[in-house]
Amino acid sequence: MARRGPGTLYRRLASVRFLLSRDRAEVLRFFAARYPTRVPRRERLRLIRAFLHITNQVRGYHSQAEMLAVAHEILLRAGQPGLTVVECGAAKGSSTAKLSLVTARAGGRLLVYDSFKGIPENDEVHRNLDGRRVVFRKGAFTGRLAQVQRTVAELGAPEVSSFVKGWFADTLPSLEGPVDVALLDVDLLSSTRECLVHIYPRLRPGGVIFSQDGHLEAIVALLGDPAFWRDEVGCPPPHIEGLGRDKLLRIPAPAA
Ligand SMILES: C[S@@+](CC[C@H](N)C(=O)[O-])C[C@H]1O[C@@H](n2cnc3c(N)ncnc32)[C@H](O)[C@@H]1O
Repeated sequence: MARRGPGTLYRRLASVRFLLSRDRAEVLRFFAARYPTRVPRRERLRLIRAFLHITNQVRGYHSQAEMLAVAHEILLRAGQPGLTVVECGAAKGSSTAKLSLVTARAGGRLLVYDSFKGIPENDEVHRNLDGRRVVFRKGAFTGRLAQVQRTVAELGAPEVSSFVKGWFADTLPSLEGPVDVALLDVDLLSSTRECLVHIYPRLRPGGVIFSQDGHLEAIVALLGDPAFWRDEVGCPPPHIEGLGRDKLLRIPAPAA
C-alpha cells in the first residue's frame, strides 16, 4: 500500500479543524444534504478542502459557512438546464473561485459582475446592527479583472465563468435571465438597490438571492421596506428570514 505523506496528514487535520470550527453547523448540513445528482461524501470533502485552500491563498471577505450556504443552494439545482449563478461583488476573487467550482459541479454557468476597481465614489455612512459606524471608501476591496481571472484559472473553474466589468448601473440592465442563484456582496445601499432592481425580477421561480450585507442597518431597512419592493423592484415584498439578525440573508423569488 502506498504510504501517505505529511501533506495528506496535514490536509486531513485541516479538514477536521474546519469541521470543528464555528462553521460546523453549515458543514454538517452540507454533508447530510441530498442533491438531485449524486455528490459522494469524498467529493464534498474535496470541495471543502478546495474552499480552505482558496481561503489560504486569496484574501476574501466571507466565512466558509456563508459560502457553503450558497453552495448548498446551487447544488440543490444541479443538472437543471440553463442553470445560471450570478455573483455581484468579487473583490480579489476568493468567493468567485469557490462559486465557480460549485457551479461547474452543478453543470451551470457563473456570471461575475464587478467594477474591478473597488467601491464607487459615495457619501454613504453606515452603521452595523450593533451601532458601530462603517464607511466604505472609494476603491476599497479592489481586485483587478486580470488578477481575479488568474485566481479563478488557478484555483477555480474558468470554463464556466464569465466576467462583466463596470458599475452595476451600467452592466446589470443587460443581464439576461433567468437567474437561479445570486450572491450580492456589495456593501453600499446604492449598489444593493441596483442589484435587486435588475436581478430580482429575473429570478426563475424557486430561485434565490443571497445578500451578505445583512449586518448593515440601512440595508436591513431597504430590504424590509414594502414600498421599495413594490415601487422600484415591481414585485411583492418577499419574506426574508433572519432580517435584522443574520449577516447572510436569503431572499426567495416571488411565488410563481
Ligand atoms: C466586499 S467586496 C466583495 C467581497 C467578495 N465577495 C469576497 O467575499 O471576497 C465588494 C465588491 O463590490 C464591488 N462593488 C460595490 N459596488 C459596486 C458597483 N456599484 N458596481 C460595481 N462593483 C461594485 C466592489 O468592487 C467590491 O469588489
